[in-house]
Amino acid sequence: MNHSNNMRWALLVGTLAALGAAAPAAALKIELPVETAAFKRGPGADAANEQCRTCHSVDYITTQPRDKPLAFWKAEVEKMKKVYGAPIPDDRIDELADYLARNYGTDK
Ligand code: HEC
Repeated sequence: MNHSNNMRWALLVGTLAALGAAAPAAALKIELPVETAAFKRGPGADAANEQCRTCHSVDYITTQPRDKPLAFWKAEVEKMKKVYGAPIPDDRIDELADYLARNYGTDK
């Protein structure tokens, strides 16, 4: 090896060492908490998954008291649309309210 090859080798080793030093930061794993709640399956669950998970977690629904009737859930869906601007089509409001009242309210 002549002098210039040694220089290149040193540069290469130096570069690899620098990459190696950077590796731990790049490999840092950030563990997000697993989603603890999911919508119960059944008729209407697809609508809920489509319409009710874009802004907040399912916990907002599952942590509501269980003694609420259909009217409460319908008002809740309408509030998401009118007050918070959820893009819920009008013809899906009843389907959503039924699903929510059946699974998280008093309508069995
Ligand atoms: C456009 C965003 C958006 C969408 C979509 C949305 N929500 Fe909400 N929701 C909100 C906001 C904002 C709050 C109030 C958050 C707070 O007070 O911290 C909220 C709160 C709630 C609460 C807690 C009680 C309350 O009235 O504040 C419930 C229950 C709820 N949402 C149900 C639903 C259901 C059911 C759907 C699907 C039909 C839905 N949300 C879709 C924005 C949304």
